[in-house]
Amino acid sequence: MKDRNPTASSIEKQKAGEAAAELVKDGMIVGLGTGSTTAYTIAQLGRRVDEGLDILAVVTSYQSEGLAIEAGIPLTSLAEHQVLDIAIDGADQVDAHFNVIKGGGAAHTREKVVARSAKRFVIVADDSKTSEQLNHYVPIEVLPYAKNLVIRQMKELDGEPKMRLGIRKDGPVISDNGNFIIDVEFGVIEDPAKLSLELSACTGVVEHGIFTGVDDVYIGQKDETVTITSSR
Ligand code: 5RP
Repeated sequence: MKDRNPTASSIEKQKAGEAAAELVKDGMIVGLGTGSTTAYTIAQLGRRVDEGLDILAVVTSYQSEGLAIEAGIPLTSLAEHQVLDIAIDGADQVDAHFNVIKGGGAAHTREKVVARSAKRFVIVADDSKTSEQLNHYVPIEVLPYAKNLVIRQMKELDGEPKMRLGIRKDGPVISDNGNFIIDVEFGVIEDPAKLSLELSACTGVVEHGIFTGVDDVYIGQKDETVTITSSR
């Protein structure tokens, strides 16, 4: 998969992604996130499935579905398994208090559904994603019909909204759910839980990219070690 963050070394992503795959044990139902770091987790789980690991996985996007099928990981759905044992996913930014911004790949709505369905939610990322406080733009998935209303509400929350455009820049990015993505700059986010509630209360917002309550964070470092922190 193409790495959308060319400034980060893919070896750091690989180390973090593969290390978190070791949390998965026989019999688990696993949520598979989206993005270039999670791609390493999926590939590693595929290798372990080849060696006999017995798991079922729920995907968060067409992208992770394709990778899981390619890796030979048997798939299931949230209709069949309402509670997952673990979900492993990437991040656009992680703060020191287990808050995360996601949605750089426009998959955060399904990612949040999967994360909230899991008993344990694990983030995998490279060191460039860490920050003492969140200050990355927040991706917002928006019902297309409500686009202008959402833009107005984002400005009322002192955000600077920008429609996310496709690669050719002549049309909006469309999520796997058929919606638009608006990226909103809020500067330093002093209280992620508060902003999360405010964004969820906006009419026309399908889901936003602030995730709170992450259980474990696996960060791949430049020296190829992985730093693991846990909130429980
Ligand atoms: C997709 C996401 C990704 O997990 C996030 O953008 C990180 O991606 P990458 O691992 O490629 O840097 O939230 O919606």
